Order: sequence, then C-alpha cells, then structure tokens
Amino acid sequence: SSNAMWGGRFAAGPDAIMEAINASIGYDQRLYAQDIRGSRAHAAMLAAQGIISDKDAEAIGEGLLTVLSEIEAGGFPFSTALEDIHMNVEARLKEVIGEPAGRLHTARSRNDQVATDFRLWVREQCDAAISGLDTLIRAALTRAEEGADWVMPGFTHLQTAQPVTFGHHMMAYVEMFARDKSRFIDARKRMNECPLGAAALAGTGFPIDRHATAEALGFDRPMANSLDAVSDRDFALEFLSAGSICAVHMSRLAEELVIWSSAQFRFVAMSDKWSTGSSIMPQKRNPDAAELIRAKIGRILGASVALFTVMKGLPLAYSKDMQEDKEQVFDAADNLMLALAAMAGMIGDMTVNADKLEAAASGGFSTATDLADWLVREAGLPFRDAHHVTGSLVAMAEDQGCDLPDLSLEQMQSINPAITESVFDVLGVHNSVASRQSYGGTAPDQVRAQIARWKEQLG
Ligand code: ARG
Repeated sequence: SSNAMWGGRFAAGPDAIMEAINASIGYDQRLYAQDIRGSRAHAAMLAAQGIISDKDAEAIGEGLLTVLSEIEAGGFPFSTALEDIHMNVEARLKEVIGEPAGRLHTARSRNDQVATDFRLWVREQCDAAISGLDTLIRAALTRAEEGADWVMPGFTHLQTAQPVTFGHHMMAYVEMFARDKSRFIDARKRMNECPLGAAALAGTGFPIDRHATAEALGFDRPMANSLDAVSDRDFALEFLSAGSICAVHMSRLAEELVIWSSAQFRFVAMSDKWSTGSSIMPQKRNPDAAELIRAKIGRILGASVALFTVMKGLPLAYSKDMQEDKEQVFDAADNLMLALAAMAGMIGDMTVNADKLEAAASGGFSTATDLADWLVREAGLPFRDAHHVTGSLVAMAEDQGCDLPDLSLEQMQSINPAITESVFDVLGVHNSVASRQSYGGTAPDQVRAQIARWKEQLG
C-alpha cells in the first residue's frame, strides 16, 4: 500500500529494496528529542499565529510529550516503512491524539524540519566538544604545572634537539586544544540560526512567526534565506572540520604517549586503567587507549571527507543525498567525545618519570646550541663559525664516547683556544632551559607565566 504521509498520488507501495535504501530511521531515530522539541515549538507558534486552534496545539504538544516518553522508555516500534524519525513521530502522534496530529505539518516540510533537528543536535555536540576540551585542557595544565621544571629532550625529526621542560611540552598541547575549543565556539555561533519555517524551499504563505520559533529553540535568529536554510550543511561540515583538527592534535599527543611509554623511553607509564595486557606475553602493558585515539582521526576525517563529497555537487535546494549527512556526523561525534574523555583520563592518570626525562635530556649533545651561543656571546665568533666549532667538539665527544660537559677544557681549547672555563656553565640542561627566557620560550619562568595566563582565563 502507499505511504500514509505522502502516498496520495501513488497507487502502489515501494519495492522492498527501495524501502531499504530510502529509510533513515535506523540511525536518525537519534534525533527524536530534537524532532519533538522542534515540533512543539512549531505547533505553539502555529496556535499563537491563529493558524491552528489552541485546542489542537495543546493536544499536539501533550501528545508529543507522550511520544517522547514512549521513545525514552525504549522499545518504541520504529517503522522502516515510515522512513525517518519525523514521520515515525508524527504517525505515532496520530495514533495517540487522532485528527489534530494532521495539523502539525502545516507551514512546514521535512526539509526545514530535518535541517532544524540536525542543527539542534550538532549544536549540542559542539557544547559537548567544548566541555570535553575544557576537561582535557585542565588535565594537561595540571601536568604542566607539576612538570614546569622537569627537563626533557625536545625533539626535531625525533632526534634530540634542545632541552625543554615537560611543562613546556604539555603547554604546547594546551595551546592547541584551546584553539580547538575556540573553533567549536565559533562554529556554534555561526550555526545558531534556525531553518524552521523555510518550509520545503520557498517559505510559506501561512502567516508564521519564524522569530518566535527561532527563539523558542534557543537560536539567535531565523536563517535569512529559505533556500539556504534547507539546503546547506556547512554547520555539519564545520563541526567535522573542527573535530578533525582536534583529532589530529590528539593523535599527535597519543603518538608521543605511545613512544614515551615504550621500554626504550620510559618517560611515562600509563596507569592500569588505561592499559591492556597481552594474552601471550606476560610482561606487556600496552597503551591501547593512546593507539585508539591515534586512530580516531581516521574515522573523523573520513566522515568529513564523506560529507564534503556528498555535498559538493548538489544543486539547490534539498536533495535526498543530504540524508547521508547524519551517520557520518553521529559516528564522528561519538568517537570525538570518546577520544577527548580517554585522552583526559590517560593524561591525568599517567606517571611521569622525571628522572628518565632528565637523563634523556642530557644525552644526545642536547646543549650543543648553548655551546655555540656561548661562543657567539663570550668569544665574539660569528654564529656560523661557532656552529662549526661546536660541530667539531661534538665529533670529538662522540669519538671519546662522552657527552659535551665531559670534555676537558684543554680538549676544547685544542679546537678553539678562545674557550674558557665558564663554558661549562651553559652545558648543563637546567642552565640551558633557564636561559630560554624569550616570550613563549621553555624557561620555567616563561612556562609558569603561560600556565598562570591559562588558569586565569579558564577560571
Ligand atoms: N530523512 C530525510 C533526511 O534525513 C528527511 C527529509 C526528507 N525530505 C524530502 N524532501 N524527502 O534528509
């Protein structure tokens, strides 16, 4: 038989395969609360405008609450024949309240309905991401504060470069996560306009009040163009883009945690809560949570690529292609929130091995730049010459199987006679980091100032 909602001009029902490819209820049932909220706002507005009676609006509003609690109780008989959440809710409303249910869809289309529901949902996910990031930022800040003086090797090319502090390293991620947070805040602001009342695409002849429904649903204003309102999904793309960037940041930190927790590094130890063992190798403590966070960017960016691809060729206004927006965003959002929570937990619970950090910081000729800088400052060498002299000293130390501070003054002077005893002051890793006082540098004073700025900002 033909569809109860739109079957007027149809003699026969859809093929079973058509039903399968057409239905979105399997996933868009997640929008039930947003759908009911939007419908209640719409019905109240219709009554306020005299488009439907107060009595009908009341029946609709109450009936929708009944449907809401039925769905929340679980086991709601969602029907594939009814395609999506919008028609499932309305059909059930009809069973509950009868004839007035048919008046709910006045001056509305599923096109503006789904755009509204989905915006409400994505807006909530922005809030969830913002709060997840907040927790993560605080966790990283706490670790940064604790390790503001702990010296560790800073790397380029994953080769020892110069000593930095652990606090400095953590604060680098605080900066990244704070930008991620601001991206979600921005995206939320831009998406906070209401499509409801755009109807199918052209607006409606009924005297609706779009400002009222926008306000009732917590939007800043109605969207200004009905075609745009029903046909763009840039809010979802922005959410996925911000999510992808955030996931990249988490993935890089996760990668570091995987490396740092290895037997070769031992910079950190993951707590039992965030590790798994091996069924065959009894010694193993695997950083699975970090690895999974590292992998999440795959699905989040994948979702983003999928939705960009769905949208890129669509003429205005609505096309059914856009039904493919939801699963991607649902999956990306779920995994983003999970990754944020796991990352915050892992960071908070890990043990940082300050001694290992310091021992590693001292190796790899990490203060060679300090030595070159000393030659510039104290012996007046041009930096390029100082670089060359230092390179020869590194080669000499490497030859002797020792570190730079282990060379004798005589050995150093054999390469450049201008070197004096005071060079040894700059070869220690603590002196090295303490000297890096430029704004944003790794000196503990700078790191503490950065921490203080963030603590004040976060309150
Ligand atoms: N399930 C549809 C979606 O998610 C709802 C909108 C249907 N509109 C239409 N004109 N067929 O996009």
